[in-house]
Amino acid sequence: MSNYLQTILGFARPVHLWTWLLFSGGLALFSLVSLRFLYFDSVFCGGDTAGAAPGECFYFLRSHVARLGIKTHLWCILPSSILAGAQFIPVLRRPANVRIHRVIGYASIVLALAGTVAVLPLIRHAFGGELAAQAVTALLLVLFLIAQVAGYAGSVVSLRIISTLTAVAISFIGGYYSAMPCDKINFAMGSREETLQWYPECSPYFTEDNVFQKAVVDADLFGPNLMQLAAALNLTYGMSAWLALVFHVVGSELYIRSTLRPVGFKKDVRKSG
Ligand code: HEM
Repeated sequence: MSNYLQTILGFARPVHLWTWLLFSGGLALFSLVSLRFLYFDSVFCGGDTAGAAPGECFYFLRSHVARLGIKTHLWCILPSSILAGAQFIPVLRRPANVRIHRVIGYASIVLALAGTVAVLPLIRHAFGGELAAQAVTALLLVLFLIAQVAGYAGSVVSLRIISTLTAVAISFIGGYYSAMPCDKINFAMGSREETLQWYPECSPYFTEDNVFQKAVVDADLFGPNLMQLAAALNLTYGMSAWLALVFHVVGSELYIRSTLRPVGFKKDVRKSG
């Protein structure tokens, strides 16, 4: 299978195919699978676990700007990432396909820019809204706007893998927790009764004695309520995004050096011969 893929996509060596899958192709596949989120009301914010992490839609749905932001992000960034993954396939980089390569490149960049700017109104509350999460999301935004390197873009997939694995680990270790606002918990749980059953400390929120009341939620991916899953994912996002970013910056450099140098070298040899 990998030999077949290597041949039809035009990779010279298996290691190049695997590096592409890791840094660009994986992003394209992730984006293909995520296209279902374009059904915003029925799938992404549809209420079950198939869409956004529990509670995230509380912020997306309560303001028009945030709603527009996440919708624009998904509608632009997903097609852009699919196109960007294709750009690194050697058959599309051959001289005969240079026009296709150019059109895909421009389309991908324009969509990526629009999809990235659209994240601005989401930064404050995304992935739990911790300061480390805000900082890394803002950094990704800046990197995307100035660098436009598809290899860095792959970090959004790696971060989800690292975040899920770390969430599993902290769920087994136990003792990790996160403070969450009661309005968000109430939105995700769907009723006052259920919210108070799990988090009685939210009572001042419902009596309006403190509309900003928070509750402490155990981080546990396998816990009995969805907020525990959300707490585990929120806690691990900041750290995972930083790690994934470093990993991809280094990986992209190695990939570019190992695939581009020999081409230039051969050209020079031919010219001089
Ligand atoms: C490179 C391509 C990207 C892809 C394929 C992508 C994909 C997605 C997807 C599928 C979601 C839906 C929720 C989820 O799966 O967690 C999402 C949400 C989000 N993305 Fe991206 N994204 C990309 C780049 C970025 C960048 C560069 C930033 C930061 C500037 C960013 C920030 C966000 C934010 C803040 C959310 C909302 C998360 C939440 O609160 O649940 N994304 N993205």
